[in-house]
Amino acid sequence: MNRRTTILSAAVALVSALALTGCSSDSSADTGGKPELEVSGAFMPQPVMDMAGGFLTIKNDSATADKLTSVTSPLSDDVQIHETKNQKMRQVTSFDIPANGELKLERGGNHIMFMDIKQKPKQGEKVSIELHFEKADPIKVDLPVEAATHNPKQH
Ligand code: CU
Repeated sequence: MNRRTTILSAAVALVSALALTGCSSDSSADTGGKPELEVSGAFMPQPVMDMAGGFLTIKNDSATADKLTSVTSPLSDDVQIHETKNQKMRQVTSFDIPANGELKLERGGNHIMFMDIKQKPKQGEKVSIELHFEKADPIKVDLPVEAATHNPKQH
């Protein structure tokens, strides 16, 4: 009888320990409903004027859609996000980052635009930016400066 009680309470303790572990690992993976975003392929073509473009891909591996709402950088006090339609670019207030999808900023399409840049970074240098989202925490990225004509498009 005594032994049975001991085993039972040990089992209960084990189960609740497992439950606790499960719970805490859940809450560390759960970012409070925030999407998990990953930035890749970032670059800036070496600027030839007093403005510059920025390109990158933001991958969203979560089931929650997000939006890129703004970009900040020490290079410019006026960093905009632009879409290109009918070969004309236009400032937008946000870009959608679909759930389990990606947002591609690439030459000829959506891009980051640095207006009135404070200096002209050269190929091989880096420009730091911070991406701001509707839901996810801001992400800091260093854009390597590439040749003015650089275009990594693979297809
Ligand atoms: Cu533009």
